Amino acid sequence: MIDQPPPDLLEAARCAQNRAYAPYSKFRVGAALVDEAGRVHVGCNVECGSYGLTICAERNAVAAMVAAGGKTIGSVVIVSDGAVTPCGACRQVLAEFADDAPVWLIDSSGRSPGNAISLSALLPMRFKF
Ligand code: THU
Repeated sequence: MIDQPPPDLLEAARCAQNRAYAPYSKFRVGAALVDEAGRVHVGCNVECGSYGLTICAERNAVAAMVAAGGKTIGSVVIVSDGAVTPCGACRQVLAEFADDAPVWLIDSSGRSPGNAISLSALLPMRFKF
């Protein structure tokens, strides 16, 4: 069992977190995922003054993958203060593109070691069309 996220994915997620647009919550999130071709795609949260229009980092990363032609998620790294778990909406959207995948939850400070949890554990009995 590997206990560290892939370094390139971690670096990409950290860069994305630095680019987050979060002037309202001040809570910056970066996400990076690798597709079936080994390509890395990133997303950050993008907030909006009309709060409900905010989009999470994870779903923006998925959108970037799809726009680049990616079909399947291999693994995901999410960087935030406190290494939070992805919201329910993001879990469902990630699951659209992976039967299962490791999801690395990383604290921005870099002080605590990474922790991987499987997408199927994060979202059991997901809706599947
Ligand atoms: N956020 C994410 O980017 N991903 C999540 O899974 C949960 C929350 C963002 C949305 C908002 O900009 C900020 O975190 C606070 O909710």
